[in-house]
Amino acid sequence: MRTSQDYGSAAKLFHWATVALLAAQFTVGWLMPDIKRGMQPERLMNLHLSIGLLILTLMTARGAWRLAHGAPPPEASLPAWQRIASQLVHGALYLLVFAMTISGWLFASMRGWKIMIFGTVPVPPLVVQSSPLGHAVGEWHAPMSWVLLGVVGLHVAAALAHYFIFRDRVLQRMLPRFGG
Ligand code: HEM
Ligand code: HEM
Repeated sequence: MRTSQDYGSAAKLFHWATVALLAAQFTVGWLMPDIKRGMQPERLMNLHLSIGLLILTLMTARGAWRLAHGAPPPEASLPAWQRIASQLVHGALYLLVFAMTISGWLFASMRGWKIMIFGTVPVPPLVVQSSPLGHAVGEWHAPMSWVLLGVVGLHVAAALAHYFIFRDRVLQRMLPRFGG
């Protein structure tokens, strides 16, 4: 039984590692060259595929950990609509991150690319080259990245509103605590 109102250190570590990897992933995604017919992934694209699959691994471990351990009860001061809204946003974040990684993996597989995580771990394709399914779902990867960014923006705005406007402890629940 959890007694503290804060997230535990494992949940915090998962949360902030995801934030750091997503920041890197968006940066690389925007910097890498546009895809042309017949091209093979170059350095930045390989980095994007590797970080993306690392995010998929991390989110799978995080989701499993969350299902096994649950989350601390919501801040006592929160009205019902904020509890429901935060659960919906958190659920959407999990789903969108998974959807981003799977659609990217389908896109790369459909192109017939050989995926090697950081040049060492080979990853099998999800579909055969030129697969219509890979094409259809892969097309959604770039537009969906904006949806994810929008929901993250909403999530961060809510965290800041709790800190500066509502002045409750919602943000502090997820911040690292140094020195006990
Ligand atoms: C949460 C994880 C991911 C995020 C946030 C993300 C984000 C992005 C972004 C912002 C772009 C640039 C889109 C544009 O040109 O406007 C992009 C492109 C791309 N990503 Fe990802 N990505 C993720 C995971 C992956 C994974 C796991 C793979 C493959 C294994 C992948 C493969 C690709 C490919 C092939 C492109 C170029 C094709 C396109 O523009 O649709 N991504 N990604
Ligand atoms: C600077 C950026 C961010 C801040 C300040 C922040 C802040 C927070 C806070 C305060 C909570 C706890 C809310 C509560 O008390 O229930 C939380 C939970 C959560 N955050 Fe963030 N967050 C940020 C970025 C992100 C990003 C990029 C994602 C994308 C995956 C994300 C996904 C989540 C999820 C899924 C939860 C729920 C955790 C769970 O119950 O399993 N956050 N965040």
